[in-house]
Amino acid sequence: MTQITNHRDGSVLVLTFNRPEKMNALTKEMYAGLTAGLTEAADDFGIRAVVIQSSGDHFTAGNDIMDFMANPPGSEDSDVAKFLGALLNFPKPLIAAVKGNAVGVGTTMLLHCDAVIASPNSKFSMPFVSLGLVPEAGSTYLFPLLVGYQRAAKIFMTGESFNADQAFEMGLVAEIEADVDASALKLAHQLAEQPPTAMINTKALLKAGRHDAVAAVMRAEFELFAMALQSEEAMMAFTKFMEKKGK
Ligand code: COA
Repeated sequence: MTQITNHRDGSVLVLTFNRPEKMNALTKEMYAGLTAGLTEAADDFGIRAVVIQSSGDHFTAGNDIMDFMANPPGSEDSDVAKFLGALLNFPKPLIAAVKGNAVGVGTTMLLHCDAVIASPNSKFSMPFVSLGLVPEAGSTYLFPLLVGYQRAAKIFMTGESFNADQAFEMGLVAEIEADVDASALKLAHQLAEQPPTAMINTKALLKAGRHDAVAAVMRAEFELFAMALQSEEAMMAFTKFMEKKGK
């Protein structure tokens, strides 16, 4: 069974994280699957909106730690870098349906979405520093822009999590709903019915002011992230995670 499922619901493409037994932790194959889905949606005139959702009780536990150790992404050609580029440049409405844990890239990817629908039990965290890493996905630029410098710095530096109400108040989440998948799909269909060229142009205008800055920050983050992955600090944190799990 593929770990990213891709299905059409009329003019909406639904991409689903499908690795619930590992809390949908993302492997390089999953990043490639997400990039393929976003590319297909960008290129196909018949697809007017995309939903990213998850199977099981959680959105995603972020990067798969074992996969990161086995296949550290070292270049901008890596699957994770390509996914983040596809996310940054995705031209059509992108909606995320979040429930349970959204760790690491599970939270940072939301900064690129046009709407995030979260369940009341959602829990967001970006524990990059605690793992000996640095934040990614342009989040060191986008998150302070959203919530203010000091609040962003505290969340990044402590690794502390925040809940759905806090995420809503920050503006990271557009709506809190019990059935996130149904609500996200409903909104996606509503947006898919809008005139498509006006929609694409409006999204481009909304993102234009920050696009180049985000791209530059993403490159800088990626360079430091790739170095950090090889560091003793990260190795110690990863080993601790594996020992806790008895791996
Ligand atoms: N990479 C690889 N596997 C992961 C994972 C990750 N990031 N997150 C969870 N898993 C796996 C666990 O190893 C476990 O698998 P197992 O049953 O085969 O041991 C399964 O998913 C369920 O996770 P578990 O840790 O048992 O759930 P929990 O409710 O006790 O804890 C978390 C939930 C999210 C707090 C915990 O899984 C965690 O800290 N994960 C790492 C998150 C992280 O650091 N992500 C990287 C960000 S860059």
